[in-house]
Amino acid sequence: MSSPASRRTRVAILISGRGSNMMSLIEAAAHPDYPAEIVTVISNRPEAHGLARAQAANIPARAIDHKAYADRASFDAALDAALGAEKVDIVCLAGFMRLLTPEFTQKWFGRMINIHPALLPSFKGLHTHERALEAGVKIHGCTVHFVTPEMDVGPIIMQAAVPVADDDTPDSLGARVLAQEHVIYPAALRLVCEGRARIEGGRVAIDEFGLVNRALVAPHA
Ligand code: GAR
Repeated sequence: MSSPASRRTRVAILISGRGSNMMSLIEAAAHPDYPAEIVTVISNRPEAHGLARAQAANIPARAIDHKAYADRASFDAALDAALGAEKVDIVCLAGFMRLLTPEFTQKWFGRMINIHPALLPSFKGLHTHERALEAGVKIHGCTVHFVTPEMDVGPIIMQAAVPVADDDTPDSLGARVLAQEHVIYPAALRLVCEGRARIEGGRVAIDEFGLVNRALVAPHA
Protein backbone atom coordinates (compact mmCIF):
# COMPACT_ATOMS: atom_id res chain seq x y z
CA MET A 1 0.00 0.00 0.00
CA SER A 2 1.21 3.43 -0.79
CA SER A 3 1.57 6.46 1.41
CA PRO A 4 -0.32 9.64 0.54
CA ALA A 5 3.00 11.14 -0.53
CA SER A 6 3.35 8.55 -3.26
CA ARG A 7 0.66 7.05 -5.47
CA ARG A 8 -2.72 6.80 -3.82
CA THR A 9 -3.95 3.27 -3.11
CA ARG A 10 -6.07 2.02 -6.00
CA VAL A 11 -9.39 0.77 -4.67
CA ALA A 12 -12.16 -1.21 -6.37
CA ILE A 13 -15.61 -1.33 -4.83
CA LEU A 14 -17.81 -4.37 -5.43
CA ILE A 15 -21.54 -3.88 -5.04
CA SER A 16 -24.82 -5.66 -5.69
CA GLY A 17 -27.40 -3.00 -4.89
CA ARG A 18 -28.09 0.59 -3.91
CA GLY A 19 -24.49 1.46 -3.07
CA SER A 20 -24.81 3.78 -0.09
CA ASN A 21 -21.60 2.46 1.47
CA MET A 22 -19.95 2.78 -1.93
CA MET A 23 -20.97 6.44 -1.98
CA SER A 24 -19.47 6.99 1.48
CA LEU A 25 -16.15 5.67 0.14
CA ILE A 26 -16.37 7.69 -3.07
CA GLU A 27 -17.12 10.85 -1.09
CA ALA A 28 -14.23 10.23 1.31
CA ALA A 29 -11.85 9.59 -1.58
CA ALA A 30 -12.88 12.87 -3.20
CA HIS A 31 -10.82 14.65 -0.55
CA PRO A 32 -7.24 15.17 -1.74
CA ASP A 33 -5.76 14.06 1.59
CA TYR A 34 -7.56 10.70 1.56
CA PRO A 35 -5.04 7.92 0.88
CA ALA A 36 -7.20 5.99 -1.61
CA GLU A 37 -8.70 6.63 -5.01
CA ILE A 38 -11.69 4.67 -6.26
CA VAL A 39 -10.62 3.40 -9.66
CA THR A 40 -13.56 1.16 -10.46
CA VAL A 41 -16.96 0.00 -9.24
CA ILE A 42 -18.15 -3.44 -10.29
CA SER A 43 -21.56 -4.96 -9.68
CA ASN A 44 -22.47 -8.62 -10.16
CA ARG A 45 -26.01 -7.40 -10.86
CA PRO A 46 -26.51 -5.22 -13.97
CA GLU A 47 -29.62 -3.63 -12.45
CA ALA A 48 -27.83 -2.43 -9.30
CA HIS A 49 -28.78 1.18 -8.61
CA GLY A 50 -25.27 1.85 -7.30
CA LEU A 51 -23.82 1.64 -10.83
CA ALA A 52 -25.65 4.80 -11.92
CA ARG A 53 -24.71 6.54 -8.67
CA ALA A 54 -21.02 5.76 -9.23
CA GLN A 55 -21.17 6.94 -12.85
CA ALA A 56 -22.85 10.16 -11.72
CA ALA A 57 -19.83 10.65 -9.46
CA ASN A 58 -17.52 10.12 -12.45
CA ILE A 59 -16.27 6.75 -11.26
CA PRO A 60 -15.93 4.05 -13.95
CA ALA A 61 -18.62 1.50 -13.10
CA ARG A 62 -19.81 -1.62 -14.82
CA ALA A 63 -21.52 -4.93 -14.29
CA ILE A 64 -19.94 -8.33 -14.49
CA ASP A 65 -23.14 -10.34 -14.50
CA HIS A 66 -22.63 -13.54 -12.53
CA LYS A 67 -25.48 -15.14 -14.48
CA ALA A 68 -23.31 -15.02 -17.59
CA TYR A 69 -20.82 -17.43 -16.03
CA ALA A 70 -21.14 -21.18 -15.71
CA ASP A 71 -19.85 -21.37 -12.15
CA ARG A 72 -18.37 -19.39 -9.29
CA ALA A 73 -14.79 -20.09 -10.36
CA SER A 74 -15.27 -18.59 -13.84
CA PHE A 75 -17.10 -15.54 -12.46
CA ASP A 76 -14.36 -14.98 -9.90
CA ALA A 77 -11.72 -15.35 -12.61
CA ALA A 78 -13.43 -12.62 -14.65
CA LEU A 79 -13.58 -10.43 -11.57
CA ASP A 80 -9.92 -11.05 -10.81
CA ALA A 81 -8.97 -10.18 -14.40
CA ALA A 82 -10.92 -6.91 -14.20
CA LEU A 83 -9.21 -5.99 -10.93
CA GLY A 84 -5.83 -6.86 -12.38
CA ALA A 85 -6.47 -4.73 -15.48
CA GLU A 86 -7.14 -1.73 -13.22
CA LYS A 87 -4.05 -2.44 -11.10
CA VAL A 88 -6.26 -2.58 -8.02
CA ASP A 89 -4.50 -2.67 -4.66
CA ILE A 90 -7.49 -3.03 -2.32
CA VAL A 91 -10.99 -4.41 -2.86
CA CYS A 92 -13.92 -3.11 -0.79
CA LEU A 93 -17.05 -5.22 -0.67
CA ALA A 94 -19.96 -2.84 -0.14
CA GLY A 95 -23.21 -4.74 -0.08
CA PHE A 96 -21.72 -7.32 -2.45
CA MET A 97 -24.13 -10.19 -1.90
CA ARG A 98 -22.30 -13.02 -3.57
CA LEU A 99 -20.05 -15.65 -2.07
CA LEU A 100 -16.50 -15.64 -3.40
CA THR A 101 -14.46 -18.77 -3.92
CA PRO A 102 -11.70 -19.71 -1.44
CA GLU A 103 -9.18 -19.29 -4.28
CA PHE A 104 -10.27 -15.70 -4.87
CA THR A 105 -10.44 -14.78 -1.17
CA GLN A 106 -7.04 -16.36 -0.53
CA LYS A 107 -5.48 -14.49 -3.42
CA TRP A 108 -6.85 -11.19 -2.07
CA PHE A 109 -6.34 -11.95 1.62
CA GLY A 110 -5.16 -8.83 3.45
CA ARG A 111 -6.22 -6.71 0.47
CA MET A 112 -10.00 -7.21 0.56
CA ILE A 113 -12.33 -5.80 3.20
CA ASN A 114 -16.07 -6.01 3.84
CA ILE A 115 -18.70 -4.13 5.80
CA HIS A 116 -21.21 -6.20 7.72
CA PRO A 117 -24.34 -4.81 9.42
CA ALA A 118 -23.79 -6.38 12.86
CA LEU A 119 -21.23 -6.54 15.62
CA LEU A 120 -19.34 -9.65 14.50
CA PRO A 121 -18.99 -12.41 15.55
CA SER A 122 -22.69 -11.95 16.42
CA PHE A 123 -25.25 -12.16 13.62
CA LYS A 124 -23.22 -13.35 10.68
CA GLY A 125 -25.14 -13.74 7.43
CA LEU A 126 -28.40 -12.12 6.39
CA HIS A 127 -31.29 -10.35 8.15
CA THR A 128 -29.03 -9.12 10.92
CA HIS A 129 -31.38 -6.39 12.20
CA GLU A 130 -34.37 -8.75 12.45
CA ARG A 131 -32.24 -11.28 14.30
CA ALA A 132 -30.77 -8.66 16.65
CA LEU A 133 -34.31 -7.55 17.56
CA GLU A 134 -35.44 -11.16 18.06
CA ALA A 135 -32.45 -11.82 20.29
CA GLY A 136 -33.29 -8.75 22.36
CA VAL A 137 -29.80 -7.29 22.31
CA LYS A 138 -29.61 -3.74 23.63
CA ILE A 139 -26.55 -2.84 21.58
CA HIS A 140 -26.11 -3.62 17.88
CA GLY A 141 -23.81 -2.20 15.23
CA CYS A 142 -21.57 -2.81 12.27
CA THR A 143 -18.13 -4.20 11.48
CA VAL A 144 -15.44 -3.71 8.86
CA HIS A 145 -13.23 -6.78 8.53
CA PHE A 146 -10.73 -8.44 6.23
CA VAL A 147 -12.34 -11.08 4.04
CA THR A 148 -11.44 -14.74 4.46
CA PRO A 149 -12.92 -17.80 2.75
CA GLU A 150 -15.43 -18.30 5.58
CA MET A 151 -18.21 -15.70 5.41
CA ASP A 152 -18.22 -12.86 7.97
CA VAL A 153 -15.37 -14.34 9.97
CA GLY A 154 -12.22 -12.46 8.95
CA PRO A 155 -10.04 -10.27 11.19
CA ILE A 156 -11.97 -7.26 12.51
CA ILE A 157 -10.63 -3.80 11.68
CA MET A 158 -13.27 -1.44 13.09
CA GLN A 159 -16.69 -1.57 14.70
CA ALA A 160 -19.38 0.92 15.68
CA ALA A 161 -22.10 0.23 18.23
CA VAL A 162 -25.58 1.72 18.38
CA PRO A 163 -28.32 1.40 21.01
CA VAL A 164 -31.42 -0.65 20.27
CA ALA A 165 -34.73 0.98 21.20
CA ASP A 166 -37.72 -0.96 22.49
CA ASP A 167 -39.86 0.23 19.62
CA ASP A 168 -37.25 -0.34 16.90
CA THR A 169 -38.26 -2.09 13.73
CA PRO A 170 -35.69 -3.76 11.46
CA ASP A 171 -35.90 -0.63 9.30
CA SER A 172 -35.39 1.90 12.08
CA LEU A 173 -32.56 -0.12 13.60
CA GLY A 174 -31.05 -0.72 10.17
CA ALA A 175 -31.05 3.01 9.45
CA ARG A 176 -29.24 3.72 12.73
CA VAL A 177 -26.64 1.08 11.90
CA LEU A 178 -26.28 2.22 8.27
CA ALA A 179 -25.45 5.77 9.37
CA GLN A 180 -22.52 4.31 11.32
CA GLU A 181 -21.50 2.06 8.42
CA HIS A 182 -20.99 5.22 6.41
CA VAL A 183 -18.69 6.56 9.14
CA ILE A 184 -16.54 3.50 9.81
CA TYR A 185 -16.08 2.18 6.27
CA PRO A 186 -14.09 5.19 5.02
CA ALA A 187 -12.24 5.32 8.35
CA ALA A 188 -11.30 1.64 8.21
CA LEU A 189 -10.21 1.86 4.57
CA ARG A 190 -7.99 4.78 5.55
CA LEU A 191 -6.30 2.64 8.24
CA VAL A 192 -5.72 -0.17 5.75
CA CYS A 193 -4.35 2.14 3.06
CA GLU A 194 -2.02 3.82 5.54
CA GLY A 195 -0.71 0.42 6.62
CA ARG A 196 -1.98 1.00 10.16
CA ALA A 197 -4.21 -2.11 10.29
CA ARG A 198 -1.88 -5.08 10.50
CA ILE A 199 -3.06 -8.69 10.59
CA GLU A 200 -1.24 -10.49 13.40
CA GLY A 201 -2.22 -14.00 14.46
CA GLY A 202 -5.68 -13.77 12.95
CA ARG A 203 -6.45 -10.43 14.60
CA VAL A 204 -5.90 -6.86 13.50
CA ALA A 205 -3.48 -4.64 15.40
CA ILE A 206 -4.03 -0.94 14.84
CA ASP A 207 -1.07 1.42 14.99
CA GLU A 208 -1.85 4.47 17.14
CA PHE A 209 -5.17 3.06 18.34
CA GLY A 210 -7.36 5.95 19.48
CA LEU A 211 -9.06 4.63 22.61
CA VAL A 212 -12.14 6.54 23.76
CA ASN A 213 -12.64 5.47 27.34
CA ARG A 214 -16.38 5.94 27.33
CA ALA A 215 -19.04 3.23 27.25
CA LEU A 216 -22.21 3.10 25.19
CA VAL A 217 -24.80 1.98 27.75
CA ALA A 218 -28.25 0.98 26.52
CA PRO A 219 -30.76 1.59 27.95
CA HIS A 220 -29.22 4.73 29.30
CA ALA A 221 -29.92 4.74 33.06
C1 GAR B 1 -25.21 -2.66 4.00
O1 GAR B 1 -25.98 -2.54 5.18
C2 GAR B 1 -24.11 -3.66 4.20
O2 GAR B 1 -23.57 -3.65 5.49
C3 GAR B 1 -24.82 -4.95 3.93
O3 GAR B 1 -25.65 -4.68 2.84
C4 GAR B 1 -26.03 -3.31 2.88
C5 GAR B 1 -25.70 -2.71 1.54
O4 GAR B 1 -26.18 -1.40 1.47
N1 GAR B 1 -23.91 -6.01 3.64
C6 GAR B 1 -24.14 -7.27 3.97
O5 GAR B 1 -25.15 -7.65 4.51
C7 GAR B 1 -23.02 -8.21 3.61
N2 GAR B 1 -23.15 -9.42 4.33
P1 GAR B 1 -25.55 -0.38 0.46
O6 GAR B 1 -25.62 -1.04 -0.92
O7 GAR B 1 -26.45 0.82 0.54
O8 GAR B 1 -24.15 -0.11 0.89
